[in-house]
Amino acid sequence: LSYQYLSFCHQVRDWENISTCFSVLNFELSFPFTLPELAVGGIYTVIQTKAKITADEWGENYYMMGPYFEHNFKTQVEGCEPPNPAIRKAMDSLIHNGCQVHFGRWLIEGSPYVILFDIGSAAWNLDRWKGDLWQTCNIGLPYHDREANDSASLNVLFQLTDHLGDKPNVISHFHEWQAGPGLILSRSRKIPMATVFTTHATLLGRYLCAGNADFYNNLDKFSIDKEAGERQIYHRYCLERAAVHCAHVFTTVSQITAVEANHMLHRKPDVVTPNGLNVKKFSAMHEFQNLHSTKKTRIQEFVRGHFYGHLDFNLDKTLFFFIAGRYEFSNKGADIFLESLSRLNYLLRVRNDVTVVVFFIMPAKTNNFNVESLKGQAVRKQLWDTAQTVKEKFGKKLYDALLKGQIPDMNSILDRDDFTIMKRAIYATQRHSLPPVTTHNMLDDSTDPILSNVRRIGLFNSRNDRVKIIFHPEFLSSTSPLLPMDYEDFVRGCHLGVFPSYYEPWGYTPGECTVMGIPSVTTNLSGFGCFMEEHISDPAAYGIYIVDRRFRSPEESCNQLTQFMFSFCQQSRRQRIIQRNRTERLSDLLDWRYLGRVCFCSTRNKQLFDERENIWRGKSPLRGRNLQQNQAHSGRPSASTGWGEWKEEREKNSRQQKTTTSSRNIGQVNWILEVYSSRPRIPVEKYRERETERRKHN
Ligand code: UDP
Ligand code: G6P
Ligand code: GLC
Repeated sequence: LSYQYLSFCHQVRDWENISTCFSVLNFELSFPFTLPELAVGGIYTVIQTKAKITADEWGENYYMMGPYFEHNFKTQVEGCEPPNPAIRKAMDSLIHNGCQVHFGRWLIEGSPYVILFDIGSAAWNLDRWKGDLWQTCNIGLPYHDREANDSASLNVLFQLTDHLGDKPNVISHFHEWQAGPGLILSRSRKIPMATVFTTHATLLGRYLCAGNADFYNNLDKFSIDKEAGERQIYHRYCLERAAVHCAHVFTTVSQITAVEANHMLHRKPDVVTPNGLNVKKFSAMHEFQNLHSTKKTRIQEFVRGHFYGHLDFNLDKTLFFFIAGRYEFSNKGADIFLESLSRLNYLLRVRNDVTVVVFFIMPAKTNNFNVESLKGQAVRKQLWDTAQTVKEKFGKKLYDALLKGQIPDMNSILDRDDFTIMKRAIYATQRHSLPPVTTHNMLDDSTDPILSNVRRIGLFNSRNDRVKIIFHPEFLSSTSPLLPMDYEDFVRGCHLGVFPSYYEPWGYTPGECTVMGIPSVTTNLSGFGCFMEEHISDPAAYGIYIVDRRFRSPEESCNQLTQFMFSFCQQSRRQRIIQRNRTERLSDLLDWRYLGRVCFCSTRNKQLFDERENIWRGKSPLRGRNLQQNQAHSGRPSASTGWGEWKEEREKNSRQQKTTTSSRNIGQVNWILEVYSSRPRIPVEKYRERETERRKHN
């Protein structure tokens, strides 16, 4: 919330006659909301989890906005009349002009109001919006980029505000480049509202990393326009950059992304707003431990089916690990994860009787579940039914015998038919193939990066393997016929989440594990990992293992990850229970109730930002990103290569951090205002001239 106050406060400076905070309308425009293909992943989690605390703060004056999708509206939104007559009037006017707008309450915690625009109905005006964008900032959108065109149609915000009276007091918060046109056009039309733009990753950063660039060592060396052009995302990149520069307040979700944004978008975020969660507190401490136990039983059931005929490992000594999120193979660290798993497999075969079942939950293109996986669950069900039938017959005969005062003859209590049924059931569990690695028919089976690497390392779920792999290329759902659990329940039932990301502006998945009391692995290249490193003196003791991917070669990071996983496997059940209790204790730190009000930003101190940026630049011994490229550079960094210096700096900074983070948002608001007012403002016209010039030059 602090950043919303920030922009509000800024407005107070710009406009007169704002009497009270409660007369301010707060709009939040986000594309991921209700867009089916994007309604997954971290940004959706931000918008959804933040709703409650924001609605509590702003009440009837808080409106979320996004595109309309009929199915989602019907299933997730309760349609109603807008409480504010000005909004009704504005909507009527839009409807009168042919744009369909829907209003309601989104049925999530906090029940925020939503205003949803039917993009299709506004499409007839698309050329006009595109023309306006061109006129305003010389950004041309190619006709074939549907997402970019949709984003242009969704710039209706300023039309809404047209109807809010003479001096509407509005704060609008835009997320990601897709919301950019709304911001740019509002500013160019001088709509009197305060604007906040949040980037959850820079477009170019994500692309460059996915393309295997040695990103963090070359942050200041990329020719950004050229790189964007080569990747055919120049227009999107321009929208992002223009929105960033037009916004009154620019924020991002972590310190690393702040540094990245400074290089990729050429503006330092004014404030870093770490992502939070809605933490559910149980009255009894052991409640989340019980939940772990019951959810684990359900995962065990699934595993029984999946490995039918090969269930020669002890489920009581089996640990469940998982990785989940957007399928960006190397950005999410699935590459080093697989490599480490093959090493872990070797270590467990030599020195341990633990089995590890690893789930990859990353959506890919599929053609539905595969027969073998479905058959596994059917076979398990059949065995269960057979056991129930025999148990009933056995129980009845036993009961009859006891009624007669006899102990039944155990040799004859089951008849021939019972044995036949049981034998048939056992024969049905024979299989000639290994338990499948993937649960679905993959469309790109031969080129899929996870499957290709599984083939390379040879982890095919054979009997000898102590590490088994299950790739579920779809997000989980409680209505799935295969693994009917939602993601939260699944996480609770697992033992360790492994997220060794290379590119991860924040990374919700390890945070979600933490609040559920499940230990996890993250990295010092993820916003979450850095945040934890900064705020907790020994994160590993609390079940947050941070792999060093910044100052070690990939080979070393792999070994470190293997070591983390291997030591985890060596823990006793008692140790795991104690660790889970400790992990769960960190959950308050990630609660929106706390993060919504206090900014843990280091950009609030310009000097600190510059120092940290220097730390990030040029001192890493890492020369390339790939394991192969780095074989030659696996030496641990020494003081002369920057390690010692870095460590000292880091400790100094983290001391500085700790002294400042406890300050409440009032101090930070003042600081931001200070930074803000000292920042040279560029009028939109100037920005346009400057950009045109810059592009000509490029
Ligand atoms: N997630 C989900 N269902 C699943 C797996 C993951 O809803 O089956 C969510 C998870 O709760 C998390 C998000 O996907 O909030 C992933 O966010 P993160 O920030 O870690 O990464 P992103 O995928 O956005 O890059
Ligand atoms: C929770 C439950 C215990 C159970 C344990 C299993 O703590 O309260 O009853 O024994 O989980 O832990 P594990 O790490 O072996 O899944
Ligand atoms: C993006 C980032 C992810 C972050 C999320 C929410 O999806 O890739 O790291 O957690 O946004 O901010």
